[in-house]
Amino acid sequence: MAGGTFATQGSHPRHAADGAITGSVVIICIVAASAGLIFGYDVGISGGITAMPPFLEKFFPSIPKKMAEAKPNQYCIFDSQALTAFTSSLYISGLVSSLIAGRVTTTTGRRGILIIGGIIFMIGTLLGVVAVNLAMLILGRLLLGFGVGFTNQAAPIYITEMAPPKWRGAFTTAFQSFLGGGALLATIINWFASKMGENGWRFSLGCAGIPAIIMTVGAFFIPDTPSSLIQRGQLQKARQSLNQVRGVDSDTEAELNNLINYHEAAKAATKQPYKTIFQRKYRPHLVMTAAIPSFQQLTGINIVAFYAPVLFRSVGLSLNGSLVGAIILNFINFSSTFVSAYSVDRFGRRLLFLEAGVQIILCQLVLAYIFSAELGTAGTSSFSKGSAILVLVLMCIISAGFGWSWGPLTWIVPSEILPLEVRPAGQGICIASNFLLTFILSQVFLSILCKMKYGVFLFYAGWVMIMTVFVGLFLPETKGLHLQEMNKIWQDHWFWYRFVEDPSSNYANLTE
Ligand code: BGC
Repeated sequence: MAGGTFATQGSHPRHAADGAITGSVVIICIVAASAGLIFGYDVGISGGITAMPPFLEKFFPSIPKKMAEAKPNQYCIFDSQALTAFTSSLYISGLVSSLIAGRVTTTTGRRGILIIGGIIFMIGTLLGVVAVNLAMLILGRLLLGFGVGFTNQAAPIYITEMAPPKWRGAFTTAFQSFLGGGALLATIINWFASKMGENGWRFSLGCAGIPAIIMTVGAFFIPDTPSSLIQRGQLQKARQSLNQVRGVDSDTEAELNNLINYHEAAKAATKQPYKTIFQRKYRPHLVMTAAIPSFQQLTGINIVAFYAPVLFRSVGLSLNGSLVGAIILNFINFSSTFVSAYSVDRFGRRLLFLEAGVQIILCQLVLAYIFSAELGTAGTSSFSKGSAILVLVLMCIISAGFGWSWGPLTWIVPSEILPLEVRPAGQGICIASNFLLTFILSQVFLSILCKMKYGVFLFYAGWVMIMTVFVGLFLPETKGLHLQEMNKIWQDHWFWYRFVEDPSSNYANLTE
């Protein structure tokens, strides 16, 4: 590395303390990853409650009416703007708040953002539980979104900055595992709630408060990250935080000095983070932090996540069958994140992206075929039992592929490729792009299903093809590298090298 002082071994530099996993770092990361739990709970809860008759009758009475028709068009039963507004309102407020979080984190620190987000989320939960009309329900969901925008902006960066570099991928995957766990929990709670009668949905919404309390209270007891503390001039606290996560026996002074130098080099740029990230030398970072989270949504995962119970009902399963189907699906999604945690630092990010891309495309093509064969374009016939089960199996395979690739990697890759000076802004852009696409797609999905019919699966298969080629061509491997030496991946890249400057000019003082 020209002018740099890192010890290198082979093509990738490696460091002595890279592998140390202490009890503290595990606990600290668990608290941060709980932010995933509250997000996942929201993802999982909406699909189930929107399939519950008492909830639909109270807030969306047109849907039970359509279901009662003699020969309803299965593609269009759930095509209701109010219903989609309920699901997607969370993402519109999350979009705004993640951008705000990217700015205020420089003052509040990563931990402060987690706490503020958790408190707003709890207020939103309360409002949903006591909702007596659609306005209250949607306002509550907007507040949930506001909270989640904050916590999603902070948690992945928090974990990335705390984790030992060698296991950074596995640690940051915890965010997605908790997310998947939250969604799974939500579907199980929905199943119980569906048996509780009139107000079961209130119970479902209220349970979101439990993980939120755990995360928010836990956040008071964890330190902020060394990088964030250095950024705010709190050197002594940064040293304590580093000692706490790396363990008393390890020599943290070198890592601390390295972070301080890195911060000094990045200082000027940190003042105007959103302006800075648009400079030419940050083009690869900007493109990746916007493209990866947008592509994640274009895998079509949220059709599966939000509308699985609704889709299962469309293919003729009972309410109970469709809620159980959603539990199975979420269980697979959750379990597959552990495959990712195991593989991501061993085999790298690219391999997971590429393999899962192929798997998802194939399943979507088969789904399109089954829907066209069973429902045709009129959508008035119904599915045979065998086909309904096949739909569930294919959705499970998609969910598994997503759970070990685009799911966790969307949180890992942007937070690790972003240099410190643009990290909060970049992460804000990452969440905002993700939420924007989630919002648009969840807003239009039920009506595209109604209009494009089985073509909706071809639509997503096309996108997964594009994004898989994109990763193959443009995303360099980041496994095992220190955050401070990421610039190297762009310098060595056949396309991106022309945008980045020699890092030695910026970060010449970094020593190990
Ligand atoms: C995505 C969500 C999705 C969830 C499913 C997350 O990574 O951002 O939109 O619903 O995974 O597990």
